[in-house]
Parts: sequence; structure tokens; C-alpha cells
Amino acid sequence: PVTDLSFAIEPTTNPTPADHRADLIAKPVFGRVFTDHMAIVKYKEGKGWHDAKVTARKPLTLDPATAVLHYAQEIFEGMKAYCTENGGVASFRPEANARRFRASAERMAMAEVPEDLFIKAVDSLVAIDRDWVPSGEGQSLYIRPFMIASEVFLGVKPSSEYLFIVIASPVGAYFGSGCVSVWVSDDYSRAAPGGTGAAKCGGNYAASLVAQRESKHHGCDQVLFLDSREQRFIEEMGGMNVMFLRDDNTLVTPPLTGTILPGITRDAILQLAKERGLRVEETPIDINELFEGAANGRYREAFACGTAAVISPIGSLKRAEGEAVFGDGKTPGEVTLMLKKTLTDIQTGRSNDEHGWVHRI
Ligand code: COI
Repeated sequence: PVTDLSFAIEPTTNPTPADHRADLIAKPVFGRVFTDHMAIVKYKEGKGWHDAKVTARKPLTLDPATAVLHYAQEIFEGMKAYCTENGGVASFRPEANARRFRASAERMAMAEVPEDLFIKAVDSLVAIDRDWVPSGEGQSLYIRPFMIASEVFLGVKPSSEYLFIVIASPVGAYFGSGCVSVWVSDDYSRAAPGGTGAAKCGGNYAASLVAQRESKHHGCDQVLFLDSREQRFIEEMGGMNVMFLRDDNTLVTPPLTGTILPGITRDAILQLAKERGLRVEETPIDINELFEGAANGRYREAFACGTAAVISPIGSLKRAEGEAVFGDGKTPGEVTLMLKKTLTDIQTGRSNDEHGWVHRI
């Protein structure tokens, strides 16, 4: 099958009035407000990708027997577009998201979206909705490409039809200001060896919710999962990777062993940290050593990182046995703030894009 890369552009006949849009994007809450359009492409076995279009964002009509509603054959991505210093709009490393989307599709036995089709869908949507990209400090347009199994069939097998859709939402900070508090889950794990932990599939996030709810009961913002075999080594949080700074100027984070999402923000931070003279170690982190190290000053800083979270400082980790506090538990660490500024300055065009990460739209 030949991929038809041309998107039919069907502008909405009912666009949000400019003054209402300005109100909506002035103080955006994560994931509640959406732009006027969506990109949508269909797939059918034997026919390939077809009917690519950018059209008014509207509800989908799905037969109750649509496969995704039963067996969760679904994947997604998270990416952002920013207003840049020179008045333009740019996304960050979209080819990395396109690649990861293909890897997730492969793991979930879904049709693979060609990387150029993925990027074109995102660019076409951002282009038509560019007035929705907020320009305030810490604000951006969050882009959510996703794919669902759309065959109407209750047999358990890979779907023969898919819908690839991109929507977008103006956003501010994922967490409020200040430091995030994190509950360490000793009862639930997120992913097991051989499972889907490295794929960005909705099921991983569904599986995290009961632990996330538990973290709220303990007064925390997020949950941190341990490995499923020994409940001993740190893996990742409910929806983002995690990093720690040791007192020997080493940034440490768990290695990508198949149970952790290979974060694009994670990867960028590791590169930037090395370039800024930090040592970087991707190594298993024992939760007990981490708690001891926070108490004796060996571990100085901690942060969550992801597209939505950007870099969010962690003040403390809690578990049934006690609490690990980083610094005074309230003030973001110096290196955390330096890395955040370095990253966001590149994303918004305030500093030179030496890595070729910035994709102008
Ligand atoms: C992202 O960071 O883009 C994610 O997909 C994670 C989710 C918690 C919003």
C-alpha cells in the first residue's frame, strides 16, 4: 500500500472567537481546553493509510464493539509546540516522538504510522491552530497524537483497522509551582519484564491510577514505582521519568531495561547535563540507599521529567517507613533549575539549537 501524504484541509465553519480563545489560553489548565481542529488518518489492512485530513475537532462515532473499547489496543504520544523568540512556532524533536510511536505500535501489534506522516499530521494541525499556542512563561501547546484499534470485532487479535488522530491543548505547568511530593508504591508495580512498560500505551497509565490514588491519600502529588521483581529499584513515576543529583555532581536515573518509558525529555536532559559538566549515570537505584542518601546529604536534588512535567523539582519521597527529603523539601535544587532553564531556553529559541532539536512549523 502507498501512503497518501497529502492532508485535505477542512477549516472549521465555527471557529472559537478570538477574544474567547484569548481568555481560554490566558491561564490554561493542563488538558481541559482544546483547539478548533484535529488531524485524522485512517488505516485499513490491504489499503494502507488513507483519507488524511485536518478538520473540525468533534466527537468520534464508534460502534460499541470497536476493538479498542474492549482490549485497549491504543497508543499515544505527548509533545509540545512553543512560541519562539522570533515570533514563530516550533516543536521539539518531533522525529523522536514519531520513532517512539512506531516502536509502541510494534509492541502493541498495531499498524505503524510512517514517521513522515506522523510529523506532517502534527505540523498541519499546529499550522491551522497556531493562534492557540500560548506565549506566556511556561506555557505551550500540548500535542496529543494517538492511535486506536477501530475494527468492529470482539475476537482477540490485532485489529485490521486503525484511526490515527492528533489533537492539541494549550497548557501551563503540569504541577503547580514549588516542589512535588511523591509516594513510593510498595504494593503496586507499573510494568514487568517482557510487558509493555517501554511502550506508550494507555493501559500503562490505567494500571498506574490505583497507585496514583493511593499517593493522593498520603497527601502526595505523584506516585513512584519500584521494579516488579524485588520491589527494590526505582523505575518511573505515574507518567514521567525521575532523576537524582548526588553530591559528587552525578545525575543518576534508572536505565532503560524495557520496563521504563524511554523519555525524550529524559534523553535531552542526559545530553545537556553531560555538556554542562555533570557526570551522568544510568544505573539501578536502590530505594533504601536513596532514602539513606537523602538523609545523609549524598543525594541532594530530585526531579521528575517528561513532556508534560518538563522538569518538576521533587521535595520529598514518602513511603510507609518514612520520608526522604531533598534540600529543605521546599526549594528547588540549583542544578534542577539550571537544567530546566537550559532545556526550556532551547525549546523556546532563547538559546542556540546546537543539537538540531527545534522543528520550526
Ligand atoms: C507526557 O508527558 O506527555 C505524558 O504523556 C505524560 C502524561 C502524564 C501527561
